[in-house]
Amino acid sequence: MVKHLTTAVVLLCMVAGNSWIAAQEFHGNPDAGEALYKTHCLSCHGRMGDGQGPDSKDLVVQPKDFHTLESRGRTDFELLIAISNGVLFSPMHSWRGRLKDEEMMDVIRYIRALAPSRVVS
Ligand code: HEC
Repeated sequence: MVKHLTTAVVLLCMVAGNSWIAAQEFHGNPDAGEALYKTHCLSCHGRMGDGQGPDSKDLVVQPKDFHTLESRGRTDFELLIAISNGVLFSPMHSWRGRLKDEEMMDVIRYIRALAPSRVVS
């Protein structure tokens, strides 16, 4: 019984711990993020973040609409991975080397301002 209880407590901590990490919001400046977004991202992702930017018409893989439940369900960390590494087989290239880490976090804060996260923190 004690053994089971210990296992249960350990499992609970792991689950709780993970979701706590996953739900962490990055600090960032949404105003700086807005300027970066308008310069680098708006052409594809659109003014409102709905994926309807002026360049999106020519793309086979459409830019992500940040308002979808799928996108809003992602953690900040998942967005960072997409921005930093790019999305395979899509026109979303890696921004590593073009944007600093802090700038990526700024732009994530702006994306979240346009389309609030569903991830409970
Ligand atoms: C050339 C067009 C283009 C530009 C410019 C662009 N993106 Fe993307 N973006 C895409 C496409 C296409 C996808 C992938 C859509 C898919 O996988 O269905 C994507 C996916 C993403 C995702 C993943 C979202 C999710 O929910 O999975 C993020 C985050 C993202 N872009 C952020 C940015 C940011 C920030 C910038 C500017 C620094 C930017 N993108 C610039 C086209 C673009």
